Amino acid sequence: MSADSESALVWSDALLLGFGPMDARHEEFVSLVSALLHASNVELPQRLAALATHLREHFDEEDRWMTETGFPARHCHVEEHDAVLHSLEQVQALLTNGDSSECRRFARELARWFPGHADYMDAALAHWMCQRRLGGKPVVLRRRATGA
Ligand SMILES: [Fe+2]
Ligand SMILES: [Fe+2]
Repeated sequence: MSADSESALVWSDALLLGFGPMDARHEEFVSLVSALLHASNVELPQRLAALATHLREHFDEEDRWMTETGFPARHCHVEEHDAVLHSLEQVQALLTNGDSSECRRFARELARWFPGHADYMDAALAHWMCQRRLGGKPVVLRRRATGA
């Protein structure tokens, strides 16, 4: 497998979780990680800064949903977010000192990490939020991949 296909993160309906505000945030996440993966050295600082702003808002929002609704598995979800933010701070400091390799590694790690986090942690929260708001399971409408 090439390095590119290993680290690619592309938005598709397969990533939809059925809770609209979260899906919109996740689509933005995928586009910012992809922009970072494909950044030139000159573009890296600005793209990392954009991703940093996004990550803080993304994780704050999910934490707010969990806190406001008394979500039972909040602790381990927040721990995963905090680990990402911790790495982000280290990578930002290294990039400021001219080390771009860790920034590129961070982008590849995020691309690898996200589908599992979304499937496991975020999907449970999406389900929970839909139950609270709509009184039922999320309804995910995915386009058919066959094109037939
Ligand atoms: Fe998320
Ligand atoms: Fe999350």
